[in-house]
Amino acid sequence: MEENRKIIKGNIAFTPRFGKLEVRENSFIVIEGKQVKGIYCELPAEYKNISVTDYQDALIIPGLVDLHFHAPQFANRGLGFDLELLPWLEGYTFPEEAKFINAAYAQEVYKKVVTELWKWGTTRVVLFGTIHKEATAKLMELLAQAGLGGYVGKVNMDRNSPDILIETTEQSLTATEDYIKDTVDRYQLVKPILTPRFVPTCTPELMAGIAKLAKKYNLPVQSHLSENAGEIAWVKELHPECQNYASVYHKFGLFGQQPTIMAHCVYNDDTEIELMAKSKVYVAHCPYSNNNLASGIAPVRKYIDNGIIVGLGTDVAGGHEVSMAKVMAMAVQVSKLKWLATDKKEKFFTIPEVFYMATKGGGSFFGKVGSFEDGYEFDALVIDDSCLEVSAYNRYSIEERLSRFLYIGDYKNIVARYIAGAKIEQPQF
Ligand code: GUN
Ligand code: FE
Repeated sequence: MEENRKIIKGNIAFTPRFGKLEVRENSFIVIEGKQVKGIYCELPAEYKNISVTDYQDALIIPGLVDLHFHAPQFANRGLGFDLELLPWLEGYTFPEEAKFINAAYAQEVYKKVVTELWKWGTTRVVLFGTIHKEATAKLMELLAQAGLGGYVGKVNMDRNSPDILIETTEQSLTATEDYIKDTVDRYQLVKPILTPRFVPTCTPELMAGIAKLAKKYNLPVQSHLSENAGEIAWVKELHPECQNYASVYHKFGLFGQQPTIMAHCVYNDDTEIELMAKSKVYVAHCPYSNNNLASGIAPVRKYIDNGIIVGLGTDVAGGHEVSMAKVMAMAVQVSKLKWLATDKKEKFFTIPEVFYMATKGGGSFFGKVGSFEDGYEFDALVIDDSCLEVSAYNRYSIEERLSRFLYIGDYKNIVARYIAGAKIEQPQF
């Protein structure tokens, strides 16, 4: 039992509820196997003979969860941001993704992606791969090898796509089932996810087939929803029989019939919001990407008020930053523009609110992940923010130190990472 236990000490901060930052200064966190077994300011006698890793004045926070990241777009960060979504996909994204037919190239890029995720303190991530099942299986392998947790999807696209990046419906479904069979029981913390790219690139037959696979293997689903005005108009043209974009996914069994993440959700109307809430669809809010591609400002407060679970995503390479800390700060910033644009009706977010989204909110897609409550899997970052101090005349509270880390800290402040109870060192690929 004892070798199964560890104890670490520091200034602990987490959000058991939306907007509620719980701070336990100078406290011990007891971990048994993968799970948190309690937080104490004085260690109970039964734990006295277990060695304590003392991180002293450092912050200990839950690991960060990225709900939306396109691994194959890593080399495109910072490119094409003079375009909106559809021409950007065509001019930059699809040509880059087509290169992943080459296994050597895929391996080279994916090693860098996984190392970068580790570096910036992302402990769980939901990834898009490409249509190529070999390259995507390699991405899963690298993620698992590094000890990170995640879902990884082989992308499906069988219409309105360039010749270099398209499958037939049958090829797409067969390759997806092969990919699932090959990976579903292979790793503990990394699993496959069904990944129809978005409605414009997936025929009705393909969407229905993907939904069947999700059900057959009891796997989750991810896609994109209502990111951009041109995209939404295109979906309307393709599916005049459906009332709105969300109901296209719903009609084909890809909207909450299995656990589902929809990225962006910038322009959903009230009918769609009702369907999202009823279907328990997760929103992956991607503020960097929505800015870069001039997509818009998502009405995230409205989603939260309607009981929708919102997590945060980088959306690399619509977003150029891998850091979820920066994404949290940006989520606060864009919420202020939304606040102004709604005549101060949609209240802007606080740090504890976005911190919840990036930890327990997004983490709940993985189960008991993203908090330090008893029974949660112990995913944590240890933050040494001493270099952010300015003078002995400034005394910051733990909440203020967390805020400063999110706005002005970087990966160098992250001095240890834990995932499901295990300390994770830099991947050696
Ligand atoms: N919609 C469909 N594909 C994509 C993609 O790769 N990135 C973004 N941001 N939106 C999409
Ligand atoms: Fe995306």
